[in-house]
Amino acid sequence: MGSYRHFESAVVHGGIYGDEFTGSVNTPIYQTSTYEQEALGKNKGWEYSRTGNPTRAALEALIAELENGTRGFAFASGLAAITAVLSLFETGARIVISENVYGGTFRVLDKVFTRFGFAYERVDTTDLGKVEAALAAPGVKAILIESPTNPLLEITDIAAVCVAARAHGALSVVDNTFMTPYLQKPLDLGADVALHSATKYLGGHSDLIAGLAAVKDDALAERIAFLQNATGGILQPFDSFLLIRGIKTLAVRMDRHTENALAAALFLKEHPAVARVHYPGLDGAPGHALQLRQAANGGGMLSFELADGYRYEKFFAALSFVALAESLGGVESLACHPASMTHASIPKELREKAGIADGLIRISAGIEHAEDIVADLAQAIDAAKAAS
Ligand SMILES: Cc1ncc(COP(=O)(O)O)c(C=O)c1O
Repeated sequence: MGSYRHFESAVVHGGIYGDEFTGSVNTPIYQTSTYEQEALGKNKGWEYSRTGNPTRAALEALIAELENGTRGFAFASGLAAITAVLSLFETGARIVISENVYGGTFRVLDKVFTRFGFAYERVDTTDLGKVEAALAAPGVKAILIESPTNPLLEITDIAAVCVAARAHGALSVVDNTFMTPYLQKPLDLGADVALHSATKYLGGHSDLIAGLAAVKDDALAERIAFLQNATGGILQPFDSFLLIRGIKTLAVRMDRHTENALAAALFLKEHPAVARVHYPGLDGAPGHALQLRQAANGGGMLSFELADGYRYEKFFAALSFVALAESLGGVESLACHPASMTHASIPKELREKAGIADGLIRISAGIEHAEDIVADLAQAIDAAKAAS
């Protein structure tokens, strides 16, 4: 670690910076699967790239530093990271998850881990009483939360959940994808594991799929390192390079994402054709005060519902440069229909119970000019009028 004090410097200089052999300011792409060994049992610290690769190692050191952890891990996707963490547990394990957890996280538990004797419970983690009750069930090994949740941007008290989890001997896992360590640091709030779909804000340019995890505890780090190597879902050297490169601009990008999301939320809140806006950065939004206690601001994601007489299908069809697409956190603004896209793997009745209406529209505010984003939303809302 160099001598700097601020996160904005750590994203540029953190982890294993540059290249000690050439002075290259960028981490080289060590595009190799194996390493020549000097003699039997004698190598330079690298044996095989599933187990360890210098480009990936630089990224892993970087995410550990940014999350204030001691060890980081890079995976082929966010879901590969989640799968590795869930693989810490054995048959009979019961996992508590946020009710509005990412659809793919729900799916891997519901359709894969249950086949290996896991059970899970979906809980409204904004309600600590419900969290306590769920953690008290026999066999609970972990709680996996997202705050803000996807797509309703509900806020969970991360520190309180982590205290409750520890009291019940359960591991606390926080999916920090929506916030990034620039805005929120789950390990500082008491979490055992901070997870990311680095595909999103950390990569930041919609050009790679990646997952990251960071931990503080050495014994837990050893177990995850074992699983990363044993199950093999590692991030490739080129993608590790791209991710390091993306992270260098994280702080400046997140500032603009947040500014634009707030501008869009303020516009939508006043619009007569908008029935509901979900953005934790809005004064008076549920969870606003808690969000500002545990995170720097509301971040770059928001969702909303159109009023009666407006059709969400027409809204999506009328968008100009805001692209209808899965994913989030890239430089370009994206619009998504959670019910048929990101959250389609959650059965309709469970979705509706969790408040994810068929008409819900999710926006990932990009880094374009705020006025252009608001203008695109405005014209698409006008075009969404049922009779037009
Ligand atoms: C909050 C969250 N966690 C995890 C994932 C899964 O990550 P990936 O798509 O990189 O596997 C996503 C993907 O959308 C997500 O939004």
